Amino acid sequence: MIRLLAISGSLRAVSTNTTLLKAAIALAPAVMTIDLWDGLGGLPHFNPDLDIDPLPPAVAAWRGRVAEADGLLISSPEYARGVPGSLKNALDWLVSGPEHPGKPVAFFHASERGVASQAALRLIAETMGMRVIDTASVTIPLLGTQTQIEEIAADQILARRIRAALDAYGAALAATQTAR
Ligand SMILES: Cc1cc2nc3c(=O)[nH]c(=O)nc-3n(C[C@H](O)[C@H](O)[C@H](O)COP(=O)(O)O)c2cc1C
Repeated sequence: MIRLLAISGSLRAVSTNTTLLKAAIALAPAVMTIDLWDGLGGLPHFNPDLDIDPLPPAVAAWRGRVAEADGLLISSPEYARGVPGSLKNALDWLVSGPEHPGKPVAFFHASERGVASQAALRLIAETMGMRVIDTASVTIPLLGTQTQIEEIAADQILARRIRAALDAYGAALAATQTAR
């Protein structure tokens, strides 16, 4: 079973990026489980002085979730042409840890705008030594819509694109495991 950890960069209750990740959960192939991480808003501000043993409990929990995941699935809005501070904060808390190097990551995105933040996220992930899975990264334009999870899952075009991205993620991970 492939286990992905989904991370929304938006704390908004009706976030389109969170909705997109929940749709991915609903559409996940049988070989894959996707868990939505809900700890983003509970992390302390990153401070290297606190990045020592014992870690703040919320940070230890976050790193544990990353460690046990086969890959990450991030969907994030763009704020002021950059990555939302809360998401960057979460990623900064991983930098010194052993959990993330080589960790596969795919980027979903709920808006056709916001290309600067997508480029920045990729640069951050690459700088941290993560493995970006391009074939599993997809933009599904939900911005300005009130599209619900069930509507996405029932929409032939959107659902097919999400399924194709998840299948590609599974294939990329299976190829690595076979190569090992
Ligand atoms: C403070 C703030 C700044 C934003 N800056 C940008 C921006 O620079 N470029 C952009 O394309 N969208 C920008 N947006 C729009 C959000 O990226 C967009 O609404 C996003 O899709 C919302 O995602 P969500 O529904 O998951 O919260 C901004 C929104 C907010 C609240």
